[in-house]
Amino acid sequence: MAKPIVIVNFKTYPQATGERAVALAKICQTLGRKHKVDIRIAVQTTDISAVAKAVSIPVYAQHADFAMPGKSTGWVTAHALKKAGAKGTLLNHAEHRISIQGIRGIIPHLRKSRLDVIAIAADVRQLQEFERHVDADLFCIEPPELIGGDVSVAMARPGVIGDAVRASSRPLLVGAGIKNRTDLTIALSLGAAGVLLSSHIVLAHDQRGALERLIAPRR
Ligand code: G3P
Repeated sequence: MAKPIVIVNFKTYPQATGERAVALAKICQTLGRKHKVDIRIAVQTTDISAVAKAVSIPVYAQHADFAMPGKSTGWVTAHALKKAGAKGTLLNHAEHRISIQGIRGIIPHLRKSRLDVIAIAADVRQLQEFERHVDADLFCIEPPELIGGDVSVAMARPGVIGDAVRASSRPLLVGAGIKNRTDLTIALSLGAAGVLLSSHIVLAHDQRGALERLIAPRR
């Protein structure tokens, strides 16, 4: 039985930026090992190098640009992400959308740099399009309207999770409003490989406690 995948997206929250990104990354690593969860993190580009040096869990970028190394300015290339120590990248997060053409353009460069691809869809229709056209290692479905909200995708849209699992030939993550062990258990029971979450952990006064309550098995 594969370990559940839990990816904490640090987003651009100050509570997970700079040295605080390193601190939260270490908490994620410690708790992932303690509770036998495949915990991974998605950090800002500027934090990848420091965080990847500090932990051995997979560190992902939150985005990668369709730009070639060389005569280009201000873009984030797959080559640079690899050199910084990234294991892969999120693509098409609801807060940083790219076209299907852009996704298909960047993926060969990510593959050349041996970087994982996690493609995020807003709904099942987009996921079906990704299934046909996108070479990703993991898919994720995240209803944008539930991101950062009070009700999780597991509680609000269990049918969408089931439909997405059936539509995906890759391991599927679910995200948006994930807060507690119940959300994780529901997602896994519906066939998801894990979850992608952010605010409940990153914005918690006690980040360690919030994460441990989510991933620790119920006694
Ligand atoms: O990338 C995951 C993120 O969009 C979910 O955010 O705050 O609802 O856990 P949140």
